[in-house]
Amino acid sequence: MTKVILLNASPRTKSNTLDVLKVCADEIEKNGVDTEILSLKGKNIRSCIACGKCSEAGNCILNDGLDEIIDKIREVDGFIPAAPVYFGTARGDIMAALQRIGKVSRGGDKFLSGMVGGPIAVARRGGQTLTLQEMTMFFTINNMIVAGSSYWNMVFAGPEGTALEDKEGIETIKLFGRNVSNIIKKLSD
Ligand SMILES: Cc1cc2nc3c(=O)[nH]c(=O)nc-3n(C[C@H](O)[C@H](O)[C@H](O)COP(=O)(O)O)c2cc1C
Repeated sequence: MTKVILLNASPRTKSNTLDVLKVCADEIEKNGVDTEILSLKGKNIRSCIACGKCSEAGNCILNDGLDEIIDKIREVDGFIPAAPVYFGTARGDIMAALQRIGKVSRGGDKFLSGMVGGPIAVARRGGQTLTLQEMTMFFTINNMIVAGSSYWNMVFAGPEGTALEDKEGIETIKLFGRNVSNIIKKLSD
């Protein structure tokens, strides 16, 4: 069984980022790969405190719920974090989460190595490219395989419930989802 975890970093209940992830997950499932959407909503994700204890413990010792997400990512073939853009960059907690997920992997069993995926950014008007760049740094330092699409993985949406109106953005995300699942299937042949 192959599977992709999609991680929503929006704090909103009616989240544009979640709507985009649902489209992406749907496309991946249609292509024969399982998905699960997780969320940072309601968690107080802390920044890495550089204690280094993850290399002995095999997980992050900060008790804020990220360790449960890490345990799930460890079991799958693909990882797609998605963030709303805040002041031109990724919302803070997703970068804190990615840095800690990466540190646990690098310092231990390197579960991210060879995993397929890529980031998604959602914004009302600007900052998506920088957000994608900063999130992509997580993938390429952790020996991950980043899938492409016909454009960068960005969707324009401001008010709640408007993400699906960005037709080109949604088509970009669909193709990205198909590419992620195709690569996973080829690698698992
Ligand atoms: C604190 C804050 C900062 C924001 N900064 C930006 C920004 O720099 N550029 C932009 O286009 N939208 C910005 N937005 C708008 C959100 O990115 C946009 O509403 C997005 O759709 C939210 O996604 P969500 O519904 O999944 O939370 C900001 C929103 C908030 C709350």
